[in-house]
Amino acid sequence: MSKKFNYHGLIAMAAISLFACNNTSQQTDSSDAAAASQTTADAATACVSALEKKSFEETIDGKTTGLYVLKNNNGACVAITNYGGRIVSIVVPDKNNNPTDVAVGFKTVKEYQGPGDAYFGALIGRVGNRIAKGKFTLDGKEYTLATNNGPNSLHGGNKGFSAAVWDATQPNDTTLSLSYVSKDGEEGYPGTLTANVTYTLGADNSIRIDYKATTDKKTVVNLTNHTYFNLNGEGSGTILNHLVQINADKYTPVDATLIPTGKLEPVAGTPFDFTKPTAIGSRIDTVNNIQLKNGGGYDHNFALANAGPALHDAAEVTGDQSGIVMNVLTTEPGLQFYIGNFMSGKNSFKSGAKDDYRTAFCIETQHFPDAPNQKNFPSIVIEPGKEYTSTTVYKFGVKK
Ligand code: GLA
Repeated sequence: MSKKFNYHGLIAMAAISLFACNNTSQQTDSSDAAAASQTTADAATACVSALEKKSFEETIDGKTTGLYVLKNNNGACVAITNYGGRIVSIVVPDKNNNPTDVAVGFKTVKEYQGPGDAYFGALIGRVGNRIAKGKFTLDGKEYTLATNNGPNSLHGGNKGFSAAVWDATQPNDTTLSLSYVSKDGEEGYPGTLTANVTYTLGADNSIRIDYKATTDKKTVVNLTNHTYFNLNGEGSGTILNHLVQINADKYTPVDATLIPTGKLEPVAGTPFDFTKPTAIGSRIDTVNNIQLKNGGGYDHNFALANAGPALHDAAEVTGDQSGIVMNVLTTEPGLQFYIGNFMSGKNSFKSGAKDDYRTAFCIETQHFPDAPNQKNFPSIVIEPGKEYTSTTVYKFGVKK
């Protein structure tokens, strides 16, 4: 732990001057910006990162990528690139007020484009999670998608929204608006879909993600964010000792290719019962649990209790070392709890730490996987004239 904080401390002063800020006021008056950063640093809740703005500046598909930084006066900052709308870094204070980067990520756009990427931090669309055999039918017409995950389509296909360059506007220090127009037929999906996503950093160290989409033809949509968190800080090792509570009495079991069987089964009496705070790893090696076997660990959709159109409490996760607590609220009926079972250890994150097995977890709020083929799951069909909306909040605090 102290090693990690020393790392942050050592780079703090250098990083403040390097740290990317695309905010207009900061571009026009850098001395004010430096002073503001210094004040925050003096408060020992400095927003620090090893990121360099120029490593995010590329031209991809004829569009420009960059790094955008949101920050508040409460020691939090969030770095986002418009390449895939990806959260690159989330720095929040831990229980000792040390700035801690709880989102794993790369330090260049090129690495996000490379083979080592596993949707790190990304906006996912047009349809998050899997569609069985890459096929679904709408109004009697069958649509075929790329099968990019064994026999299935995953996270929008070969080039989903995680690989799109989003148009970005940052009206102030705490808001980033992104938009992307997905053409009719893109990745096999019908209809031109216009997606707008706004990231807002709250004064209470919450990151609110508002998703909106409209279409010109009936289509399917299921947007999410794929940030990998380690609440002890990037590079702090396993997340198996984090405590997790998920407000779900039921989950959707899967087959060996991670497609839901269509059943909703009770979590009670199984390793999927997170209704009380439980260490992620406490039941991970349960012998003969076919679901843990199918998922290679937890990689399952939980059906949230109290789901409804309003924001509801979905989950709470606590970093066992840092005391950092993340509360997740959403308007979505489900969440995919994934614990980095496919992390390979072959790639290096921005801190220099490897993407080792189970050193980060995801809570991807969503409609249930394979919804277009599952008549008992909430529908993800949208029609022209009706706006798709979804909101998720990740709020950070501490337990001492
Ligand atoms: C989701 C899926 C996982 C995996 C990751 C990315 O969480 O459910 O199976 O594909 O994305 O590696």
